[in-house]
Amino acid sequence: MTMQTQPTVASPEADLAAPQPAEIRISGLEKTYKTERGTTHALSNINLEIRKEEFISLIGRSGCGKTTLLRIMAGLVPPSAGQVEVGGRALWHRETVDSSVIRRLGVVFQDANLFPWYNIEDNIALPLRLRGVKKAERRERARELAELVGLQNFLPNYPRELSGGMRQRVAIARALSDNPELLLMDEPFGALDALTREKMNMEIQRIALATRATVVFVTHDIDEAVALGDRVVHLTPRPGRIKDIVDVPLTRPRGVEIKKEAAFHELVGDLHTSLNEEDADES
Ligand SMILES: Nc1ncnc2c1ncn2[C@@H]1O[C@H](COP(=O)(O)OP(=O)(O)OP(=O)(O)O)[C@@H](O)[C@H]1O
Ligand SMILES: [Mg+2]
Repeated sequence: MTMQTQPTVASPEADLAAPQPAEIRISGLEKTYKTERGTTHALSNINLEIRKEEFISLIGRSGCGKTTLLRIMAGLVPPSAGQVEVGGRALWHRETVDSSVIRRLGVVFQDANLFPWYNIEDNIALPLRLRGVKKAERRERARELAELVGLQNFLPNYPRELSGGMRQRVAIARALSDNPELLLMDEPFGALDALTREKMNMEIQRIALATRATVVFVTHDIDEAVALGDRVVHLTPRPGRIKDIVDVPLTRPRGVEIKKEAAFHELVGDLHTSLNEEDADES
């Protein structure tokens, strides 16, 4: 009898202990750019599994392939080999993207890239308009998202009337408008001053939690990478490959005070060492 009941008791725990299915799987990814001036091997054998709702920070020297990796994941540039799967579905079929996968992504770049002739409401709701969503529904969603990024009072304004940080928040709201499962951000706060950047770091954590999106966040800034990430992936150049993946077991939410903790400094220090080793490797 005991033998028979055991499995039923054990299975829920076993389920809990089982790793969550990888939301994103990057396998054997390669990218070579061919130009008239020669070829650049930008990415070499990139393999990475990203869990559902995980926040990945991607760091590395200029030119190590961070943007290339993000553009491949965003369906903007085809890989030379390898695959990106989102929820088990392949993004690339040779040089063609699967549009049903693209719909599950939201993308934010360094420059907010808003349309100057649209107000904030229309900028946020643009992806919905392109998908043919009716005006009333678009309006409601834009309001909801503006509130999420703290811009509910700026819906009728135009991009030129907003600060850089506010425009970046509009870009984030726009990327979230179609409920993406995966949010890809390439140095979204690179152009902001240190204080605004710190505020945005708080915002993005809150937004990631609220939307439950899986996030890949590119940054040059090691402090920012550690403060935000569940894991920090360190890419190394020529050709771009993964040198290190560092777990960040710090509790959330992480406020500015996290930067005073010894554990934070240790992680930042380790990553500094890892980046400095690149110089040693080259000499
Ligand atoms: N469209 C392109 N055509 C040719 N080469 C390219 C192209 N885009 C990027 N590269 C090359 O690929 C390599 C990786 O570039 P990438 O922009 O991905 O680096 P990055 O890590 O994002 O750099 P940064 O931190 O400066 O933004 C670089 O050597 C770059 O010159
Ligand atoms: Mg880049």
